[in-house]
Amino acid sequence: MNITIFGTGYVGLTQAACLAEVGHTVCCVDIDERRIAQLRQGLSPIYEPGLEALLRGNLAAGRLTFTTSAADGVGFAKVIFIAVGTPPDEDGSADLRHVFTVADTIATHAAEAKVVINKSTSPVGTAQRLKAHLDEALTQRGHAFDMQVVSNPEFLKEGSAVEDCMRPERIIIGVDGAQDIDLFRELYKPFSRNHEKLIVMDSRSAELTKYAANSMLATKISFINEMANLAERLGADIEMVRKGIGSDSRIGYDFIYAGCGYGGSCFPKDIQALQRTAAEVGYHPQLLEAVQSVNRRQKHKVFENIHRHYDGDLSGKTFALWGLSFKPNTDDMREAPSRVLLEALWAAGARVRAFDPEAMPEARRLYGDHPDLRLVDSKEEALDDAHALVILTEWLNFRVADFGLIHQRLGDKVVFDGRNIFEPAHLAREGLAYYPIGRAAVGITQR
Ligand code: UDX
Repeated sequence: MNITIFGTGYVGLTQAACLAEVGHTVCCVDIDERRIAQLRQGLSPIYEPGLEALLRGNLAAGRLTFTTSAADGVGFAKVIFIAVGTPPDEDGSADLRHVFTVADTIATHAAEAKVVINKSTSPVGTAQRLKAHLDEALTQRGHAFDMQVVSNPEFLKEGSAVEDCMRPERIIIGVDGAQDIDLFRELYKPFSRNHEKLIVMDSRSAELTKYAANSMLATKISFINEMANLAERLGADIEMVRKGIGSDSRIGYDFIYAGCGYGGSCFPKDIQALQRTAAEVGYHPQLLEAVQSVNRRQKHKVFENIHRHYDGDLSGKTFALWGLSFKPNTDDMREAPSRVLLEALWAAGARVRAFDPEAMPEARRLYGDHPDLRLVDSKEEALDDAHALVILTEWLNFRVADFGLIHQRLGDKVVFDGRNIFEPAHLAREGLAYYPIGRAAVGITQR
């Protein structure tokens, strides 16, 4: 099947590479000329495991092409995906400008009926608005054919985008009226494997499904972080509590790790957008508000531990920081807890030596010229001349650490861990003080 995809961000590019990999022929359109030039050479603009290999293989096989020509893109296929960004507006609503610009482009260049599939996370009602918008544009141009608009939200996670896209747990198809869904069966058949993954519903429910999924996941995280904060005060251990509640199959072990708060491009933005949508229909979503406020507070948690440990005096202190990205296996620092910590440490007069396996270029772009930041080439180098170590991302490579070296290099022999990657007793044996999340701190001597 020929497919056109507008937008070569995380969602569009991963979807394009995976659709090409299973045998479809995909044309990607983006207005960013540099990005398209880079992609034509098989270079991915984002770090995502497995993506570049798919790009190269399918470019070579001729199943994947890249263009800045919208006319070529629209002409190429009957099936057109919209996968452009929906960043937050000033008031937190999703800004649909790019989605509607693509719709206009499709209406301008279409010479036949198309199936327009919206993959961009968009507020409830967007598919119906897009349909009305396209109908009007086509009437104005004197076209007699019709467009079908479908909502097909994407659930991939950064860091495992290719894997999530190749093996989806469900494929949500939101169609209105009595529509033929055989096209979607054929499109997604290679991804269904041993059982049908398509869940068909109306477009408004499909759009809300995406926001509901992200809100539910973020709720789990804020819930466990709230329990972690309580556990600390009650002398309980959140890791034990996590195992205890996770064993109940209704709760499950996944996605209930306490930490320094959720970040990324989706949870904060989508929950805010859903709050706006709720306000528009006169509903006050108290739970969503609490989820966000617990998270905002949690992002300050590691700094609070540091501040308390040093009795509020951080001037002249240097902190080694392991982990800048909002989670492992990505170079993305959007809404990352590291940004809150860096800014708080600097404001308190401290310096930082930071290392991340993938996010160094992004950190350079964001803070490269900050006088109190040194971006270094390895986790060991970050420890040089540092007083304390802070861990904010649970990269695999941080989990095995040379505690002898950490002890030797750190002036104040103290580790602040925002992801609970070490066993407290182990660090205490090594003579290190250790502040985890939701577990008792160890090795602290009265200062
Ligand atoms: C999320 C959704 O998982 C995905 O389905 C949706 O399409 C987009 O948003 P992503 O933002 O890539 O994906 O990251 P995810 O792996 O969900 O993690 C989000 C944040 O939650 C990270 O900062 C992570 O560190 C944090 N997290 C996750 C926790 O603090 N504890 C956990 O147990 C799990």
